[in-house]
Amino acid sequence: MSDAANAASSKKKGKKRKVYQSLTKVMAVPPPMKSRKKAREVTSQFHVLTHNIDAIKQDTSKNERQKKAEIAELEKKLDEIGGRKAYQEASVISTKHFRSSKFVFQTLTKLGMRPKKGEPPLPLLEVGAINRQLLSCPWLQTRAIDLMQRDEGIECIDFFDITPEQKYRVLVCSMVLNCVPDARKRGDMIRMSFQHLQPGGLYFVMIPLLCLTHSPYMTDDLFMAALRHVGFEIVERKDTPKIAFVCARVPSKEEEEKKAIRAAQIEQKSQSSSSSTHTSSTSSTSSAPSKSIPVSAFRYPPKVIARGKNKTRDFAICFDDA
Ligand SMILES: C[S@@+](CC[C@H](N)C(=O)[O-])C[C@H]1O[C@@H](n2cnc3c(N)ncnc32)[C@H](O)[C@@H]1O
Repeated sequence: MSDAANAASSKKKGKKRKVYQSLTKVMAVPPPMKSRKKAREVTSQFHVLTHNIDAIKQDTSKNERQKKAEIAELEKKLDEIGGRKAYQEASVISTKHFRSSKFVFQTLTKLGMRPKKGEPPLPLLEVGAINRQLLSCPWLQTRAIDLMQRDEGIECIDFFDITPEQKYRVLVCSMVLNCVPDARKRGDMIRMSFQHLQPGGLYFVMIPLLCLTHSPYMTDDLFMAALRHVGFEIVERKDTPKIAFVCARVPSKEEEEKKAIRAAQIEQKSQSSSSSTHTSSTSSTSSAPSKSIPVSAFRYPPKVIARGKNKTRDFAICFDDA
């Protein structure tokens, strides 16, 4: 290109940039997101703002007028960063580099759950769906849901508004639990996921590792114990440097029966041996998440279990029955 042509082309580009900049100023439209850094910023701002809104809603020390004003201020900030639409855009960018669906396909195949030729597809519920990767798999019958519809096949519905009916063989919840702004709701989400699944069904839950390493209320062991608390058993775990990929299973009917028989035998034994002393509790152990973590670890409000300068998150999980 000649110098004159170069100059004309950069003049044109400059003009276009100026028009775009003035347009975005007038329309207050955030520019399209491209970088992962920007995507991370939007994601974390969105989480902070939605968590703060939720905290205000639950704050009993404030009157309704105060709450309304503070929430309006935070919602304005949410709008300024582009709201849930920008957040979903950011999620698409941030999650481009890990593939939850790949983990799901691989694990289902490894565990022998992938249907053989002629067998019906597996009913699957995908919570927080922002792409068609699971929807377009022919051996899965996917119901994909999200609070906001990004694609035609994705239903716009809140997970908490669907009554669990043990309908699904698989439930996928990738990077969603960490978006739920309240510890008790996270507990509800895990429990409801269990109730959506048939016996032997699989729960895929993906979560940023920072939630398990940088929260004063959470550890890796505690998260695993939370899954066990509602009845899941852990069958697969794989971590990338940033994300924990977990696959947990609802025990089959036979496993449940065996467990109940075992628990009854232990109960009987301990009753006969301690009937004269009455020193220990003989209640069923089914609600104990693990030997080392007591159920009380999931009581609300969450207990601080590890402090340190790296504890920058507020991720916690609580259960009503703890
Ligand atoms: C960080 S994105 C993750 C998207 C995708 N699953 C992935 O792994 O890339 C979280 C998504 O969960 C959705 N979400 C959060 N709470 C939800 C709820 N209660 N019901 C349905 N979708 C929800 C959000 O709207 C958002 O699209």
